[in-house]
Amino acid sequence: MFFHKKEIQNQQQLKQQVAQAALDYIKPGMVVGIGTGSTVNCFIDALAQIKHKVELTVSSSDESTKRLKEHGFEVVDLNYPNKVDIYIDGADEANKHRELIKGGGGALTREKICRVSSEKFVCIIDESKLVTRLGSFPLPVEIIPMARSYVAKALVALGGQPIYREGFTTDNGNIILDVHNLEIDNPLQLERELNQITGIVCNGLFAVHAADVMLIAKNDGDIEIIK
Ligand code: A5P
Repeated sequence: MFFHKKEIQNQQQLKQQVAQAALDYIKPGMVVGIGTGSTVNCFIDALAQIKHKVELTVSSSDESTKRLKEHGFEVVDLNYPNKVDIYIDGADEANKHRELIKGGGGALTREKICRVSSEKFVCIIDESKLVTRLGSFPLPVEIIPMARSYVAKALVALGGQPIYREGFTTDNGNIILDVHNLEIDNPLQLERELNQITGIVCNGLFAVHAADVMLIAKNDGDIEIIK
């Protein structure tokens, strides 16, 4: 019991360390895009230390917007700024090519929109997220509710096992299927294939637009940078 608690504390420390390291990428006057999740929550809290450097923020979820506003940041609609200088977000899984699975928190669509709208994406993870092949983490796919059955069959045809995320509605009013058992040898190709299935709003693969920089908090205390 105690050991379990200690493990959780250590992972939380790694999230805080990598969040702190990401502050180096924030320059004065920047418009900063903010992802979603527990690592990003650490980043928002860290960013509050250098709030004076941040011109504006855009946010990928109601949850992150709330936290940003609690710290006194101005959060604007993504359509408002001329450009977003940097996007900071976590991931559920990542490989060394900076390709990611995201959407464990269900915010994948807004996250992908923020990512493609930003000049640079810095992904912040702890070592536990790094894998040699993506797919152990079930791939989240956001679906228009009436297309659930059709899309589920299409996902089975691709070799996956889609599981409906019970009782969950996205910020966009849609549902999520978590796709298990996908062997993702070519994330780029699979992301493109999924983009072709009618009824899928967005899939959680970030390979077409992978991270530009990945910061990894290692168990030995180092921060590894992959770019
Ligand atoms: C949210 O939908 C996700 O894409 C998160 O970015 C991802 O789940 C990472 O979250 P944690 O930092 O909580 O692990």
